[in-house]
Amino acid sequence: MSSDAVQIIEPLSGPLSGTATVPGDKSISHRAVLFSAMAEGTSQLSGVLDSQDVRSSMSAVAQLGAKVNLSVQSDGSLAGTVEGWGAAGPAQPSAPIDCGNSGTTVRLLMGILAPWPITVTLDGDSSLRRRPMRRITAPLMKMGAKFAPAGQELLPITETGTPALRAITYDAPMASAQLKTAVLLAGVFAEGTTTVNEPAPSRNHTELMLPEFGVATTAATRTASVTGPSALEASTVHVPGDPSSAAFLAAAALLKPGSSICIKNVSLNPARIGFLRTLERMGANVEERHEGQEGKEPNGSITVSYTPHLRGCEIPAQHIASLIDEIPVLALVAAHAHGVTVFKEVGELRVKETDRLAAIIEGLELLGVDAWEEGNNLLIEGNPQLQVPEGLVFDSHGDHRLAMTWALAGLCGNQPVGVRDFGAVAVSYPRFLEDIERLER
Ligand code: S3P
Repeated sequence: MSSDAVQIIEPLSGPLSGTATVPGDKSISHRAVLFSAMAEGTSQLSGVLDSQDVRSSMSAVAQLGAKVNLSVQSDGSLAGTVEGWGAAGPAQPSAPIDCGNSGTTVRLLMGILAPWPITVTLDGDSSLRRRPMRRITAPLMKMGAKFAPAGQELLPITETGTPALRAITYDAPMASAQLKTAVLLAGVFAEGTTTVNEPAPSRNHTELMLPEFGVATTAATRTASVTGPSALEASTVHVPGDPSSAAFLAAAALLKPGSSICIKNVSLNPARIGFLRTLERMGANVEERHEGQEGKEPNGSITVSYTPHLRGCEIPAQHIASLIDEIPVLALVAAHAHGVTVFKEVGELRVKETDRLAAIIEGLELLGVDAWEEGNNLLIEGNPQLQVPEGLVFDSHGDHRLAMTWALAGLCGNQPVGVRDFGAVAVSYPRFLEDIERLER
Protein backbone atom coordinates (compact mmCIF):
# COMPACT_ATOMS: atom_id res chain seq x y z
CA MET A 1 0.00 0.00 0.00
CA SER A 2 2.83 2.42 0.70
CA SER A 3 4.13 4.58 -2.12
CA ASP A 4 7.16 6.80 -2.61
CA ALA A 5 5.14 9.76 -3.92
CA VAL A 6 5.89 13.00 -2.07
CA GLN A 7 3.05 15.44 -1.55
CA ILE A 8 4.02 19.09 -1.07
CA ILE A 9 2.04 20.75 1.71
CA GLU A 10 1.93 24.55 1.54
CA PRO A 11 1.58 26.77 4.63
CA LEU A 12 -1.97 27.93 5.36
CA SER A 13 -2.55 31.42 3.95
CA GLY A 14 -4.43 32.61 7.04
CA PRO A 15 -5.76 31.57 10.42
CA LEU A 16 -8.36 28.81 10.83
CA SER A 17 -11.84 29.84 11.90
CA GLY A 18 -15.42 28.63 12.01
CA THR A 19 -16.96 25.27 12.76
CA ALA A 20 -15.92 21.85 11.57
CA THR A 21 -17.13 18.30 11.83
CA VAL A 22 -14.88 15.26 11.63
CA PRO A 23 -15.67 11.85 10.14
CA GLY A 24 -17.07 9.02 12.24
CA ASP A 25 -14.99 7.44 14.97
CA LYS A 26 -12.83 4.63 13.59
CA SER A 27 -12.95 2.39 16.67
CA ILE A 28 -16.73 2.74 17.00
CA SER A 29 -17.24 2.25 13.24
CA HIS A 30 -15.30 -1.04 13.28
CA ARG A 31 -17.33 -2.27 16.23
CA ALA A 32 -20.64 -1.21 14.67
CA VAL A 33 -19.84 -3.19 11.51
CA LEU A 34 -18.38 -6.23 13.27
CA PHE A 35 -21.05 -6.51 16.00
CA SER A 36 -23.82 -6.11 13.39
CA ALA A 37 -22.26 -8.95 11.39
CA MET A 38 -22.31 -11.19 14.48
CA ALA A 39 -25.91 -10.31 15.35
CA GLU A 40 -29.18 -12.01 14.50
CA GLY A 41 -31.20 -9.71 12.25
CA THR A 42 -30.56 -6.48 10.37
CA SER A 43 -28.81 -3.55 12.06
CA GLN A 44 -29.14 0.07 10.97
CA LEU A 45 -25.90 2.05 10.94
CA SER A 46 -25.19 5.71 10.23
CA GLY A 47 -22.27 8.11 10.59
CA VAL A 48 -19.89 5.22 9.83
CA LEU A 49 -16.37 6.30 8.83
CA ASP A 50 -15.66 5.67 5.15
CA SER A 51 -11.96 4.84 5.21
CA GLN A 52 -9.68 2.01 4.13
CA ASP A 53 -9.57 0.53 7.64
CA VAL A 54 -13.33 0.36 8.08
CA ARG A 55 -13.68 -1.00 4.55
CA SER A 56 -11.32 -3.81 5.61
CA SER A 57 -13.83 -4.75 8.32
CA MET A 58 -16.75 -4.46 5.89
CA SER A 59 -15.20 -6.72 3.28
CA ALA A 60 -14.02 -9.22 5.92
CA VAL A 61 -17.53 -9.72 7.32
CA ALA A 62 -18.99 -9.87 3.79
CA GLN A 63 -16.54 -12.71 3.04
CA LEU A 64 -17.86 -14.43 6.17
CA GLY A 65 -21.48 -14.20 5.01
CA ALA A 66 -22.84 -10.95 6.49
CA LYS A 67 -24.85 -8.82 4.05
CA VAL A 68 -23.33 -5.36 4.11
CA ASN A 69 -25.40 -2.67 2.48
CA LEU A 70 -23.75 0.62 3.46
CA SER A 71 -23.57 3.48 0.99
CA VAL A 72 -21.84 6.85 0.89
CA GLN A 73 -23.99 9.77 2.09
CA SER A 74 -23.76 13.43 1.09
CA ASP A 75 -21.56 14.19 4.13
CA GLY A 76 -19.11 11.43 3.13
CA SER A 77 -20.20 9.01 5.88
CA LEU A 78 -21.55 5.51 5.30
CA ALA A 79 -25.10 4.56 6.26
CA GLY A 80 -27.41 1.62 5.66
CA THR A 81 -27.85 -1.90 6.94
CA VAL A 82 -25.83 -4.96 7.90
CA GLU A 83 -27.63 -8.30 8.09
CA GLY A 84 -25.69 -10.52 10.45
CA TRP A 85 -25.01 -14.25 10.43
CA GLY A 86 -26.50 -14.61 13.91
CA ALA A 87 -27.07 -18.12 15.23
CA ALA A 88 -26.07 -19.69 11.88
CA GLY A 89 -22.53 -18.46 12.41
CA PRO A 90 -20.07 -17.16 9.82
CA ALA A 91 -19.69 -19.05 6.55
CA GLN A 92 -16.44 -20.83 5.69
CA PRO A 93 -14.68 -18.33 3.38
CA SER A 94 -13.13 -19.70 0.21
CA ALA A 95 -9.98 -17.54 0.44
CA PRO A 96 -7.80 -15.89 3.13
CA ILE A 97 -9.18 -12.67 4.61
CA ASP A 98 -7.02 -9.65 3.82
CA CYS A 99 -7.33 -7.15 6.68
CA GLY A 100 -5.25 -4.55 4.85
CA ASN A 101 -3.62 -2.11 7.27
CA SER A 102 -6.20 -2.64 10.01
CA GLY A 103 -5.05 -4.04 13.35
CA THR A 104 -8.54 -3.60 14.78
CA THR A 105 -10.07 -5.72 11.99
CA VAL A 106 -7.71 -8.66 12.35
CA ARG A 107 -7.49 -8.69 16.15
CA LEU A 108 -11.24 -8.36 16.73
CA LEU A 109 -11.90 -11.01 14.04
CA MET A 110 -9.72 -13.47 15.95
CA GLY A 111 -12.14 -13.21 18.89
CA ILE A 112 -15.22 -13.22 16.64
CA LEU A 113 -14.12 -16.43 14.85
CA ALA A 114 -13.13 -18.29 18.05
CA PRO A 115 -16.58 -19.87 18.75
CA TRP A 116 -17.20 -21.21 15.23
CA PRO A 117 -15.98 -24.51 13.70
CA ILE A 118 -14.49 -23.00 10.54
CA THR A 119 -10.89 -22.52 9.48
CA VAL A 120 -9.90 -19.03 8.37
CA THR A 121 -6.56 -17.61 7.28
CA LEU A 122 -6.06 -13.99 8.33
CA ASP A 123 -3.59 -11.77 6.57
CA GLY A 124 -2.77 -8.10 6.01
CA ASP A 125 -0.47 -5.63 4.26
CA SER A 126 3.27 -5.40 4.91
CA SER A 127 2.71 -3.15 7.96
CA LEU A 128 0.11 -5.43 9.55
CA ARG A 129 2.37 -8.43 8.86
CA ARG A 130 4.96 -6.85 11.17
CA ARG A 131 2.58 -6.30 14.10
CA PRO A 132 2.34 -8.65 17.11
CA MET A 133 -0.59 -11.08 17.22
CA ARG A 134 0.40 -13.43 20.07
CA ARG A 135 -1.09 -10.99 22.57
CA ILE A 136 -4.46 -11.96 21.02
CA THR A 137 -3.92 -15.60 20.13
CA ALA A 138 -2.50 -16.47 23.59
CA PRO A 139 -5.71 -15.80 25.59
CA LEU A 140 -7.91 -17.18 22.80
CA MET A 141 -5.88 -20.41 22.86
CA LYS A 142 -6.55 -20.66 26.61
CA MET A 143 -10.24 -20.45 25.71
CA GLY A 144 -9.88 -23.33 23.21
CA ALA A 145 -9.36 -21.70 19.80
CA LYS A 146 -6.54 -23.10 17.66
CA PHE A 147 -4.02 -21.12 15.64
CA ALA A 148 -1.57 -22.39 13.04
CA PRO A 149 1.35 -22.14 13.11
CA ALA A 150 0.84 -22.45 16.90
CA GLY A 151 2.27 -19.57 18.91
CA GLN A 152 3.23 -17.58 15.80
CA GLU A 153 3.60 -13.83 16.31
CA LEU A 154 3.11 -12.59 12.74
CA LEU A 155 0.41 -12.86 10.05
CA PRO A 156 -0.59 -14.81 8.06
CA ILE A 157 -2.17 -16.97 10.78
CA THR A 158 -4.88 -19.61 10.35
CA GLU A 159 -7.55 -19.91 13.05
CA THR A 160 -9.89 -22.79 13.77
CA GLY A 161 -12.60 -22.04 16.29
CA THR A 162 -14.58 -24.30 18.60
CA PRO A 163 -18.15 -24.16 19.96
CA ALA A 164 -16.77 -25.52 23.26
CA LEU A 165 -15.01 -22.31 24.33
CA ARG A 166 -13.95 -22.00 27.98
CA ALA A 167 -14.59 -18.78 29.93
CA ILE A 168 -11.39 -17.27 31.38
CA THR A 169 -10.17 -14.52 33.65
CA TYR A 170 -7.26 -12.88 31.89
CA ASP A 171 -4.75 -10.40 33.30
CA ALA A 172 -3.71 -8.55 30.17
CA PRO A 173 0.01 -7.69 30.02
CA MET A 174 -0.73 -4.33 28.31
CA ALA A 175 -3.64 -1.87 28.13
CA SER A 176 -5.10 -2.84 24.75
CA ALA A 177 -8.73 -2.41 23.76
CA GLN A 178 -8.18 -4.73 20.82
CA LEU A 179 -7.02 -7.52 23.13
CA LYS A 180 -9.82 -6.84 25.62
CA THR A 181 -12.42 -6.82 22.85
CA ALA A 182 -11.19 -10.03 21.19
CA VAL A 183 -11.41 -11.92 24.50
CA LEU A 184 -14.81 -10.46 25.46
CA LEU A 185 -16.30 -11.22 22.02
CA ALA A 186 -15.19 -14.85 22.33
CA GLY A 187 -16.46 -14.81 25.92
CA VAL A 188 -19.99 -14.01 24.73
CA PHE A 189 -20.13 -17.60 23.43
CA ALA A 190 -18.27 -19.35 26.31
CA GLU A 191 -20.05 -21.00 29.24
CA GLY A 192 -19.59 -18.75 32.33
CA THR A 193 -18.01 -15.37 33.00
CA THR A 194 -15.05 -14.13 30.98
CA THR A 195 -13.14 -11.25 32.55
CA VAL A 196 -10.28 -9.11 31.26
CA ASN A 197 -8.23 -7.13 33.79
CA GLU A 198 -5.96 -4.40 32.44
CA PRO A 199 -2.86 -2.64 33.81
CA ALA A 200 -4.38 0.75 32.78
CA PRO A 201 -7.79 1.65 31.37
CA SER A 202 -8.09 1.21 27.58
CA ARG A 203 -10.94 2.55 25.42
CA ASN A 204 -14.28 1.04 26.44
CA HIS A 205 -16.39 1.19 23.26
CA THR A 206 -16.98 -2.57 23.35
CA GLU A 207 -18.34 -2.52 26.90
CA LEU A 208 -20.61 0.40 25.94
CA MET A 209 -21.83 -1.06 22.64
CA LEU A 210 -22.37 -4.75 23.47
CA PRO A 211 -25.42 -4.00 25.69
CA GLU A 212 -26.93 -2.11 22.73
CA PHE A 213 -26.73 -5.47 20.91
CA GLY A 214 -28.45 -7.24 23.81
CA VAL A 215 -25.33 -8.60 25.59
CA ALA A 216 -24.90 -7.48 29.21
CA THR A 217 -21.40 -6.39 30.21
CA THR A 218 -20.07 -5.45 33.61
CA ALA A 219 -17.23 -2.97 33.65
CA ALA A 220 -15.28 -0.97 36.20
CA THR A 221 -11.90 0.73 36.14
CA ARG A 222 -9.42 -1.67 34.52
CA THR A 223 -11.80 -4.64 34.35
CA ALA A 224 -14.61 -5.82 32.07
CA SER A 225 -16.68 -9.02 31.94
CA VAL A 226 -19.32 -10.81 29.89
CA THR A 227 -21.28 -13.89 30.87
CA GLY A 228 -22.09 -16.50 28.25
CA PRO A 229 -23.47 -18.20 26.44
CA SER A 230 -25.28 -15.23 25.03
CA ALA A 231 -25.94 -13.85 21.55
CA LEU A 232 -26.05 -10.51 19.79
CA GLU A 233 -29.30 -9.08 18.43
CA ALA A 234 -29.48 -6.47 15.68
CA SER A 235 -29.33 -2.84 16.82
CA THR A 236 -29.18 0.75 15.62
CA VAL A 237 -25.90 2.66 15.88
CA HIS A 238 -25.09 6.23 15.01
CA VAL A 239 -21.33 6.78 15.09
CA PRO A 240 -20.14 10.11 16.58
CA GLY A 241 -17.15 12.05 15.19
CA ASP A 242 -13.65 10.72 15.83
CA PRO A 243 -11.71 12.53 18.58
CA SER A 244 -8.47 11.16 17.10
CA SER A 245 -9.22 13.00 13.85
CA ALA A 246 -10.39 16.07 15.78
CA ALA A 247 -6.98 16.16 17.49
CA PHE A 248 -5.35 17.13 14.17
CA LEU A 249 -7.73 20.04 13.59
CA ALA A 250 -7.29 21.10 17.22
CA ALA A 251 -3.49 21.07 16.90
CA ALA A 252 -3.70 23.09 13.68
CA ALA A 253 -5.77 25.78 15.41
CA LEU A 254 -3.39 25.82 18.39
CA LEU A 255 -0.33 26.30 16.24
CA LYS A 256 -1.59 28.67 13.53
CA PRO A 257 -1.57 32.28 14.82
CA GLY A 258 -4.99 33.95 15.03
CA SER A 259 -7.00 30.72 14.73
CA SER A 260 -10.13 29.79 16.65
CA ILE A 261 -12.34 26.84 15.67
CA CYS A 262 -15.17 24.74 17.06
CA ILE A 263 -15.30 21.02 16.21
CA LYS A 264 -18.85 19.66 16.59
CA ASN A 265 -20.38 16.21 17.15
CA VAL A 266 -17.22 14.57 18.46
CA SER A 267 -17.10 11.59 20.80
CA LEU A 268 -16.08 12.92 24.22
CA ASN A 269 -15.57 9.46 25.71
CA PRO A 270 -13.07 10.10 28.56
CA ALA A 271 -11.05 7.04 27.47
CA ARG A 272 -10.37 8.85 24.17
CA ILE A 273 -9.80 12.49 25.04
CA GLY A 274 -6.64 12.25 27.08
CA PHE A 275 -5.13 14.61 24.48
CA LEU A 276 -7.44 17.39 25.71
CA ARG A 277 -6.25 16.85 29.29
CA THR A 278 -2.65 17.05 28.07
CA LEU A 279 -3.26 20.18 25.99
CA GLU A 280 -4.88 21.83 29.03
CA ARG A 281 -1.82 21.04 31.10
CA MET A 282 0.33 22.59 28.38
CA GLY A 283 -1.69 25.79 28.84
CA ALA A 284 -3.62 25.49 25.56
CA ASN A 285 -6.88 27.36 24.94
CA VAL A 286 -9.16 24.33 24.63
CA GLU A 287 -12.65 23.77 25.91
CA GLU A 288 -15.04 20.86 25.59
CA ARG A 289 -18.80 21.02 25.88
CA HIS A 290 -20.80 17.84 26.56
CA GLU A 291 -24.02 17.95 24.56
CA GLY A 292 -25.54 14.47 24.68
CA GLN A 293 -25.00 10.81 23.90
CA GLU A 294 -24.90 8.54 20.84
CA GLY A 295 -26.01 5.24 22.35
CA LYS A 296 -23.91 5.18 25.53
CA GLU A 297 -21.09 7.27 24.00
CA PRO A 298 -20.92 10.85 25.34
CA ASN A 299 -20.43 13.47 22.65
CA GLY A 300 -20.24 17.23 22.18
CA SER A 301 -17.95 19.91 20.83
CA ILE A 302 -14.35 21.05 21.24
CA THR A 303 -13.32 24.72 20.90
CA VAL A 304 -9.65 25.51 20.33
CA SER A 305 -7.80 28.80 19.85
CA TYR A 306 -4.25 29.69 18.94
CA THR A 307 -2.04 29.61 22.04
CA PRO A 308 1.33 31.36 21.77
CA HIS A 309 2.77 30.19 25.10
CA LEU A 310 2.61 26.42 25.52
CA ARG A 311 4.64 24.65 28.21
CA GLY A 312 5.98 21.13 28.31
CA CYS A 313 4.51 18.62 30.76
CA GLU A 314 4.82 15.02 31.88
CA ILE A 315 2.19 12.49 30.80
CA PRO A 316 2.06 9.61 33.29
CA ALA A 317 1.95 5.96 32.18
CA GLN A 318 -1.64 5.50 33.45
CA HIS A 319 -2.91 8.14 30.98
CA ILE A 320 -1.09 6.91 27.89
CA ALA A 321 -3.86 4.56 26.65
CA SER A 322 -6.31 7.50 26.61
CA LEU A 323 -4.12 9.35 24.07
CA ILE A 324 -2.05 6.59 22.48
CA ASP A 325 -3.08 7.44 18.89
CA GLU A 326 -2.59 11.18 19.50
CA ILE A 327 1.06 10.96 20.59
CA PRO A 328 2.44 11.84 17.12
CA VAL A 329 0.42 15.05 16.92
CA LEU A 330 0.94 15.87 20.61
CA ALA A 331 4.67 15.43 20.00
CA LEU A 332 4.48 18.12 17.30
CA VAL A 333 2.65 20.43 19.72
CA ALA A 334 5.27 19.66 22.40
CA ALA A 335 7.95 20.64 19.86
CA HIS A 336 6.49 24.19 19.98
CA ALA A 337 6.23 24.35 23.79
CA HIS A 338 8.64 25.84 26.30
CA GLY A 339 10.49 23.10 28.21
CA VAL A 340 10.61 19.33 28.08
CA THR A 341 7.57 17.10 27.54
CA VAL A 342 7.85 13.51 28.77
CA PHE A 343 5.52 10.75 27.58
CA LYS A 344 6.00 7.92 30.09
CA GLU A 345 5.94 4.24 29.11
CA VAL A 346 5.09 4.52 25.44
CA GLY A 347 6.74 1.28 24.26
CA GLU A 348 3.44 0.34 22.54
CA LEU A 349 4.25 3.01 19.93
CA ARG A 350 6.90 0.65 18.55
CA VAL A 351 4.21 -1.81 17.38
CA LYS A 352 1.69 0.54 15.81
CA GLU A 353 1.24 0.92 12.02
CA THR A 354 4.98 1.64 12.01
CA ASP A 355 7.51 2.15 14.82
CA ARG A 356 6.00 5.49 15.80
CA LEU A 357 8.55 6.09 18.56
CA ALA A 358 11.44 6.03 16.08
CA ALA A 359 9.42 7.89 13.42
CA ILE A 360 8.44 10.75 15.80
CA ILE A 361 12.08 11.24 16.81
CA GLU A 362 13.18 11.10 13.15
CA GLY A 363 10.62 13.74 12.08
CA LEU A 364 11.30 16.08 15.01
CA GLU A 365 15.04 15.85 14.39
CA LEU A 366 14.40 16.99 10.79
CA LEU A 367 12.64 20.02 12.29
CA GLY A 368 15.70 20.68 14.45
CA VAL A 369 13.93 19.68 17.68
CA ASP A 370 15.68 17.58 20.32
CA ALA A 371 13.69 14.39 20.89
CA TRP A 372 14.97 11.14 22.33
CA GLU A 373 13.92 7.94 24.07
CA GLU A 374 14.99 6.87 27.56
CA GLY A 375 13.90 3.30 28.14
CA ASN A 376 10.25 3.36 27.11
CA ASN A 377 9.84 7.10 27.69
CA LEU A 378 9.72 9.71 24.91
CA LEU A 379 11.25 13.11 25.70
CA ILE A 380 10.89 16.25 23.59
CA GLU A 381 12.59 19.56 24.27
CA GLY A 382 10.35 22.17 22.69
CA ASN A 383 11.30 25.42 21.02
CA PRO A 384 8.63 28.16 21.06
CA GLN A 385 10.58 29.96 18.28
CA LEU A 386 10.57 26.88 16.04
CA GLN A 387 10.95 27.71 12.34
CA VAL A 388 10.53 25.04 9.67
CA PRO A 389 13.78 24.66 7.69
CA GLU A 390 13.54 24.95 3.90
CA GLY A 391 13.10 21.87 1.72
CA LEU A 392 12.11 19.29 4.36
CA VAL A 393 10.70 15.95 3.25
CA PHE A 394 9.13 13.84 5.98
CA ASP A 395 8.46 10.13 5.61
CA SER A 396 5.03 8.94 6.77
CA HIS A 397 6.32 5.35 6.67
CA GLY A 398 2.85 4.52 5.30
CA ASP A 399 1.32 5.53 8.66
CA HIS A 400 -1.82 7.70 8.51
CA ARG A 401 -1.23 9.53 11.79
CA LEU A 402 2.37 10.37 10.91
CA ALA A 403 1.29 11.61 7.48
CA MET A 404 -1.16 14.05 9.10
CA THR A 405 1.30 15.10 11.82
CA TRP A 406 4.03 16.07 9.37
CA ALA A 407 1.50 17.74 7.07
CA LEU A 408 0.61 19.98 10.04
CA ALA A 409 4.25 21.06 10.32
CA GLY A 410 3.91 22.43 6.79
CA LEU A 411 0.37 23.78 7.13
CA CYS A 412 1.08 25.72 10.35
CA GLY A 413 4.68 26.65 9.61
CA ASN A 414 6.55 29.13 7.45
CA GLN A 415 7.77 26.79 4.67
CA PRO A 416 6.20 24.15 2.46
CA VAL A 417 7.16 20.61 3.43
CA GLY A 418 7.04 17.33 1.55
CA VAL A 419 5.34 14.26 3.02
CA ARG A 420 6.26 10.92 1.50
CA ASP A 421 3.25 8.59 1.08
CA PHE A 422 0.77 11.20 2.28
CA GLY A 423 -1.94 8.96 0.74
CA ALA A 424 -1.80 6.87 3.95
CA VAL A 425 -4.31 9.37 5.43
CA ALA A 426 -7.00 7.31 3.61
CA VAL A 427 -6.70 4.75 6.42
CA SER A 428 -8.57 6.97 8.91
CA TYR A 429 -9.21 10.47 7.51
CA PRO A 430 -9.37 10.61 3.70
CA ARG A 431 -10.62 14.23 3.63
CA PHE A 432 -8.14 15.59 6.18
CA LEU A 433 -6.61 18.22 3.90
CA GLU A 434 -9.97 19.40 2.54
CA ASP A 435 -11.36 19.75 6.08
CA ILE A 436 -8.40 21.88 7.19
CA GLU A 437 -8.46 24.01 4.05
CA ARG A 438 -12.20 24.62 4.48
CA LEU A 439 -11.42 26.32 7.81
CA GLU A 440 -8.86 28.65 6.23
CA ARG A 441 -10.06 32.21 6.32
C1 S3P B 1 -8.05 0.46 19.03
C2 S3P B 1 -7.23 0.25 20.10
C3 S3P B 1 -5.86 0.80 20.21
C4 S3P B 1 -5.65 1.93 19.21
C5 S3P B 1 -6.12 1.56 17.84
C6 S3P B 1 -7.62 1.27 17.87
C7 S3P B 1 -9.40 -0.13 19.03
O1 S3P B 1 -4.93 -0.22 19.93
O2 S3P B 1 -4.29 2.29 19.17
O3 S3P B 1 -5.89 2.61 16.94
O4 S3P B 1 -10.25 0.25 18.20
O5 S3P B 1 -9.66 -1.00 19.88
P1 S3P B 1 -4.45 -1.30 21.06
O6 S3P B 1 -5.59 -2.16 21.40
O7 S3P B 1 -3.33 -2.06 20.39
O8 S3P B 1 -3.96 -0.48 22.21
